[in-house]
Amino acid sequence: MMSQSRVWHPFTQHALEPAIPEIVRTEGAYLHKADGTRILDAISSWWVVTHGHRHPRIVKAIETTAASLDQIIFAGFTHEPAERLARALVDLAPPGLDWVFYSDSGSTSVEVALKMALGYFRNIGAPRSRIVVMEHSYHGDTIGAMSVGARGVFNAAYEPLLFEVDTIPFPAAGREQQTLDRFEVVSRDRRAAALIVEPLVLGAGGMLMYPPWVLAELKRIAEASGTLLIADEVMTGWGRTGTMFACEQANISPDILCTSKGLTGGTIPLAATLATDAIFQAHYSLDRKKTFFHSSSYTANPIACAAALANVEIWHDEPVIERIAALAALQAAGLQRFHDNLCFTDRRITGTIAALDLGTASPGYLAEIGPKLRAFFLEQGLLMRPLGNVLYLLPPYCVTGAELDRLYDAIEEAGERFGSKP
Ligand SMILES: Cc1ncc(COP(=O)(O)O)c(C=O)c1O
Repeated sequence: MMSQSRVWHPFTQHALEPAIPEIVRTEGAYLHKADGTRILDAISSWWVVTHGHRHPRIVKAIETTAASLDQIIFAGFTHEPAERLARALVDLAPPGLDWVFYSDSGSTSVEVALKMALGYFRNIGAPRSRIVVMEHSYHGDTIGAMSVGARGVFNAAYEPLLFEVDTIPFPAAGREQQTLDRFEVVSRDRRAAALIVEPLVLGAGGMLMYPPWVLAELKRIAEASGTLLIADEVMTGWGRTGTMFACEQANISPDILCTSKGLTGGTIPLAATLATDAIFQAHYSLDRKKTFFHSSSYTANPIACAAALANVEIWHDEPVIERIAALAALQAAGLQRFHDNLCFTDRRITGTIAALDLGTASPGYLAEIGPKLRAFFLEQGLLMRPLGNVLYLLPPYCVTGAELDRLYDAIEEAGERFGSKP
């Protein structure tokens, strides 16, 4: 059946990819294949699934809402799921983020954030356009999102379309001050419009982690130079780093916050960009030229908003934070196993996200080791998607200790099989 497929898959080199498994059902931490076997989803299906696949309350909300509402034009019209969800997001987000703009993916939430920042400065009559980014960042695959992400093999072909940015170094342990000093200089000298960062964990860049105090300092410097801070919480939001949003750990409120992925618990696409009242007010005017000119056809899809509301209710009614704390402890214990294992370096953890680097002669995303590792895990019924030689576990919160043990056993075996000791 698969040989007849006409589907062009994302981030997939079809000439090299073995047969692509067909999934017929999802449940909890598992994907079920057509042949009756199941795969443990150790990466939450690209980081979207939080509580587990198909949480019954979210499924029910989707079914119920679909009985009365489908897409309605969101310019000039509104609906209850969007209104209720916006209020819930404002309550959950760091203080001061009072307005919610809906879109449909992490990338579009970033595009919206960048446009809000530039629109703000233009509308207050002090135009700024320079964006500052952090080395190794990833913010999505649309043109603006790629422009503010790390340049490399992923976007080399599109380089002519990408806009210029200023890059500050990743705040590696012991070199944090260099990052802060550089940001101080560029934010002031370039009169930067915004700094966009993934708070605490840089996902696709290799699960690179930095401490909350650095984020707090970045916010302080941004404020001093009138630069807006955009927190891209697309991956880090909804508990991944141990708190609802990673920004909470630095005790900061960004000016703009992007959320998607776990917003609907990972069931259907939805994104939101939250902004301060100052940014909204800069666009609020009798002058129609000051309108925020952005939309997409599926803005605030009512069924997606209902799924997100059910997700919020789960956060209120179920012990999600306790589950996350328990998972974080299990992850920390799992990593401990590798304390003396010379096949791996740089064990790291933030909340529920654990990562370690496999020692290899040829690191990097395109190194042969990545697909080999992926195939090795899949043979054992485990969905892992190493970033080159970086192995990470970012499972749904329903994963059990026994399931994590299986994953750590497999990682240990992968070290023996593929790793090279220093
Ligand atoms: C931090 C971050 N921002 C943005 C995106 C893009 O999200 P999407 O794939 O939904 O467009 C991702 C996706 O992995 C991400 O990790």
